[in-house]
Amino acid sequence: MKVLVASEPFYKAIAGRPPIGRAVDMLNAAGFEIVRSSTPDTPEIRAVVAGLERWDEESFRRFPNLKIIARYGVGYDAIDLAEATKRNILVTNTRVTELSKSVAEGALLLTLAALRHLPDLAGDMRKGVWRVRTGVSLIGKTVGVLGFGAIGQSFARLLAGFKARILVCDPFVGQSTADKFCAIMVDRNTLLAESDVVSVHAPNTPENHHLVDEATLGMMKRGAILVNTSRGALVNEKALYNALLSGRLGGAGLDVWEAEPTPADNPLLTLDNVVCLPHVAGDTRESVAAMAECCAGQIIDALAGGIPQYALNL
Ligand code: GLV
Repeated sequence: MKVLVASEPFYKAIAGRPPIGRAVDMLNAAGFEIVRSSTPDTPEIRAVVAGLERWDEESFRRFPNLKIIARYGVGYDAIDLAEATKRNILVTNTRVTELSKSVAEGALLLTLAALRHLPDLAGDMRKGVWRVRTGVSLIGKTVGVLGFGAIGQSFARLLAGFKARILVCDPFVGQSTADKFCAIMVDRNTLLAESDVVSVHAPNTPENHHLVDEATLGMMKRGAILVNTSRGALVNEKALYNALLSGRLGGAGLDVWEAEPTPADNPLLTLDNVVCLPHVAGDTRESVAAMAECCAGQIIDALAGGIPQYALNL
C-alpha cells in the first residue's frame, strides 16, 4: 500500500526540515510506502496526504483505489468534499490544538508587528538607518475576531493577556461560547466599526468570499489594522490596497493571499504599513509534528476500517 504525499511541507518534513516526529515510522510500521507526487499514478495508492492543492473529480479519477485524503492542515476548501463522499473517499484534516495555537500566535505576531511598524523599522536597521517611528500599544484595545472557531478562540485566549476588549462575530457560535473567553458577540457592522484590530479567522466558503471588501473596509475605524491568517480569498486585495494607500486603514498583517505564491509585483508588498508572510502562521515545529502524526493516524485508522477522529465526510 502506498501513501502519496502531495503536501510539499510534509514531504520536506520527512527529510527532517523541520522534523515530523513519529509520522513516518507510524506509516512504515503499518505497511505503507511513502511516495512523492511526481511518481506515476498507481492503483496501490490508497491514501493521500494533501496540501493546499485542488482535489476534485478529475484528480480522484486518477486514483481508483483511494480510500482517504488526509489534509495536512485544517482548511479543506481545495477539496471537493461532495465528490469525495460520492466516491466513498474519506476526507480528514488535522484539527489539533498545536495548529490552532500556532495560527493564533501568528495572528498576534502580525498584529503587534503592524501596530509597532516592525518591518519598516527592522528594514531601516538592516540598511544602517536609525529612524524611530512611534507605534500603537495593543494593551486595552478593542480587537474584533471575525470567525470564532478553534483558531479564533485560541487568539482570544492570547488577547486576554493584553486586557483587550474582544468582539466576536460568527454565525455558528453563541454568546455562551464567547463568555468563556470574556468576549462579546456582536454583528459584523458593530465589530468593524468598533475594533482597533480586525483579525479574520473564518473558513473559505463561497459565502465568505471577499468578506472584507471595499464596503466592509469603509466601515472600519480610521487607522485600524486588518490581520488575515485564514485564506486570501476572504479579503479583496485591491480594495485593501486602496484602503491602506488612502490612510483609511493604519496597516495590515497578511499571511495568506488571493493567489499563492503571491506575484512579486503585488502592490501590497510595496507598502510600508503591511506586514507580509508566506502562509506560515501555523508553521511551527510543534504544529508540524502534531499535524504529521495526526495525518498518519487518520490514514492508518481509515485503512484499518475504522472511523478516523477528524473525518469530515462521514
Ligand atoms: C493552513 O492554511 C491550513 O489550512 O492548515
